Amino acid sequence: MLETMRIKPFQKRYTVPGDKSISHRAVLFGAIAKGKTYIDGFLHGEDCLSTVSCLRQLGVDIQMENESSLVIYGQGIEGLQSPLKPLDVGNSGTTIRLMLGILAGTKVSAVLVGDESIARRPMSRVVEPLRLMGAQIEGREHGRFTPLTVQGSRLSGTHYNSPIASAQVKSALLLAGLQAEGKTVIRETIHSRNHTEMMLPGFGVEVITNGLEVMVPGKQSLIGTHVKVPGDLSSAAFLWAAALMVPGSRMTVEDVGINPTRTGILDVFVQMGATVEIEQTGVWCNEPIGNVTVYGDDLKGVEIGGTLIPRLIDEIPILAVIAAQANGRTIIRDASELKVKETNRITTTVMELQKIGVNISETEDGMVIEGGNEIQGGMCSSHGDHRIGMALAIAGLAARDGVRVNGAEAIKVSFPSFESIITQLSV
Ligand code: S3P
Repeated sequence: MLETMRIKPFQKRYTVPGDKSISHRAVLFGAIAKGKTYIDGFLHGEDCLSTVSCLRQLGVDIQMENESSLVIYGQGIEGLQSPLKPLDVGNSGTTIRLMLGILAGTKVSAVLVGDESIARRPMSRVVEPLRLMGAQIEGREHGRFTPLTVQGSRLSGTHYNSPIASAQVKSALLLAGLQAEGKTVIRETIHSRNHTEMMLPGFGVEVITNGLEVMVPGKQSLIGTHVKVPGDLSSAAFLWAAALMVPGSRMTVEDVGINPTRTGILDVFVQMGATVEIEQTGVWCNEPIGNVTVYGDDLKGVEIGGTLIPRLIDEIPILAVIAAQANGRTIIRDASELKVKETNRITTTVMELQKIGVNISETEDGMVIEGGNEIQGGMCSSHGDHRIGMALAIAGLAARDGVRVNGAEAIKVSFPSFESIITQLSV
């Protein structure tokens, strides 16, 4: 259990652990590359460690120099071996979906399983388009859910119009496309995060982006490289939110990734009346990074939807918390994708914030928050979802009676140092 209480205003600077999406990709790409890949700033969180353990089961030699530095001795994708036991992806949707894309065109046969949350999450979004390329994937309910079995086979390139803005879908198809005969083109309706397209060229791979379309020529191999992982903006969002929940506070997060496909939450902070200062300090492996300071009082409610949603999809639970403190109504639309995250994040956000006295209700594709009243606080639960756990803990910083979050161990999935940082805020 994690307990948080009202704290005095603070002015702090932190770095946050490495970006989860980028850490997964760095280790996955290093594992299928030829030669050594060095990763600095790797997120030592449970999700990324699940990726490492699956890759080790596939015969990849991965050495941890320390918690955040890895060396991968890549043997190329042909070096992957069929695992003796099922690959367990734990809680990680990115691991299973990208892994399916990688394994689909190899000689490997493998069974993929995960935890109870993974068992509820839809896999057809990747299984179906991969089958169109020739992949042999079977599983529960015709491959809609785990456990899944993949029997690597020859693939041919495809032209796929993705009905959902999902970087996991896009990435799985791009990875399969690298092994296919001919080119693979994926067209999205709204841009999803583009870390795969940004990182692959560093591994010597040709990727061509044209508006909403991404293309990879087939039969390409990767060469090991050095990846430096930016701080995770999705983790930083909780620290900036802490500053917005405790008026008079100011939070700077250093060396954080500021890829525009991820910075939707910063745009919303500005829309709410907060001040956001972004100082770009460099580019690491094609990813812009910087120091970002957030502060502001007297925030106001906002209406959000449309193309902004994929740019802040993982930040909606914490946005709901900030909206509870802001004056007026906040409406979040077009966010049905939240229903198939680690939990149904529309339901869990609404249910748990109601428990601590927030005036919030669920809609078909989002939620409505009536802000401006004091948050009462009390007992609530993460439902095993790391981002729900962190959002509730941040709500406690402004709650009359504080907040006690059950199931806070889930936070280790993406932000292992969260609790120690939150405890230091008041010191
Ligand atoms: C991720 C993509 C997003 C995001 C998830 C990580 C990725 O999911 O919510 O936390 O690393 O590609 P979708 O692809 O389902 O939108």
